[in-house]
Amino acid sequence: MIQQFSHVKSVNGTLNLPGDKSISHRSVMFSALAEGTSTIYNYLESADINSTIDCFRKMGCEIIKTEEKIVVTGKGKGGLQAPAEKLDCGNSGTTARLITGILAAQNFESTLVGDESLSLRPMKRVIDPLTLMGAKFETNDKLTLPLTILPSDDFHAIEYILPVASAQVKSCVLLGGLFLDETTTVIEKEATRNHTENLLGLDVLEKDGSRSISISSKNYPVAGIYNVPSDISTAAFFIVLASILPNSELKLNHVLLNKTRCGIISVLRDMGADISIENEKISNGESSGDLIIKSARLKNCEISSEIIANIIDEIPILSIAGLFADGNFIVRNASELRVKETDRIASVCSNLRLLGLEVNEYEDGFEVAGRIDNRSELVFDSYGDHRIAMAFGVLSVILEQGGAVKNFGAVGVSNPKFLEQLDVISDK
Ligand code: S3P
Repeated sequence: MIQQFSHVKSVNGTLNLPGDKSISHRSVMFSALAEGTSTIYNYLESADINSTIDCFRKMGCEIIKTEEKIVVTGKGKGGLQAPAEKLDCGNSGTTARLITGILAAQNFESTLVGDESLSLRPMKRVIDPLTLMGAKFETNDKLTLPLTILPSDDFHAIEYILPVASAQVKSCVLLGGLFLDETTTVIEKEATRNHTENLLGLDVLEKDGSRSISISSKNYPVAGIYNVPSDISTAAFFIVLASILPNSELKLNHVLLNKTRCGIISVLRDMGADISIENEKISNGESSGDLIIKSARLKNCEISSEIIANIIDEIPILSIAGLFADGNFIVRNASELRVKETDRIASVCSNLRLLGLEVNEYEDGFEVAGRIDNRSELVFDSYGDHRIAMAFGVLSVILEQGGAVKNFGAVGVSNPKFLEQLDVISDK
């Protein structure tokens, strides 16, 4: 599907964006593991969360969705049932990586599959630590999906130093450790999103810039109520749009402000963005608040390597902000972008080249210089990646001549209502 966008003069108004994707996944998973009924409000209705729901339904959990909430009847410890079919993770890396940790600790066999993109993404990063824990797998040479997880009679706790800054790998190991009486510890040198820690109330020891996170069966989740704040990664598209378009003022209600996730706000503020925060609160261990964004003149700044894991999902839209900021946009130390839903370095660079900009692609990032000198109506490509689709949808409405995005349907992975939200706030 090619989505056409006309130029928008400014954006104004208020949006209640859908729930955070990372927290929605974990709320469903932890509710499914807990004994009894849990309710999840403001969840993210999207293809990715449906993949997680579908996997747990196949393991015997009753999960009922209405527009307002998800009600999950969890199976309790040892209660998950052997799935009769393969578990389809769709496009969702978070489903695949986190569920592998849970499945490695079960006494039944299961097989994970995914769509074309997910089937190319690395699973070695979770197979390696789980193998150290004694897990057993049947896999292919490339160590990608499909992946069969076999029961193991020697599944045990480990201490693991994360070799890659990945919350998915961290959470996978921790979720394996959730089923063991001995303590499993994961040490991370670079801070990655900490929703697993927050939602399960895990002990975290900070020392010399590293964090040591411990888990055991004592942390097994109990049924409860989850209120999911709106997704900061989804908000990022609107924050950038309101910052760039003149005469704009946008309010985004109840947005996740977890410190391991809101690096995008600090980077944009360093660039000169006018972002204020009201009504801060905490629920389920997660902070949130209302964001007010006004148009501002932006300048590009150095993006430090320490903040990369924090803003990893926001780099495509940040690069769009960079196009309208003084100076060159440069991002390095971000090779993880190459193993996302697409190779996001390659997909951003090839779209930006259509604008006649000077784009230098590096193994771990890219640099963009020059001025947009293509004034014809361009057709960008999402390459089937939701965040690339939204980033270039935002760019299209900023461009005087408008633009179009191929394979725009990919937005269904994290924000199926993107076009409606854009429409509500657009002054044409
Ligand atoms: C996620 C972690 C990140 C992020 C993904 C969601 C999570 O991946 O890119 O969208 O919910 O744990 P990595 O941890 O692999 O970087």
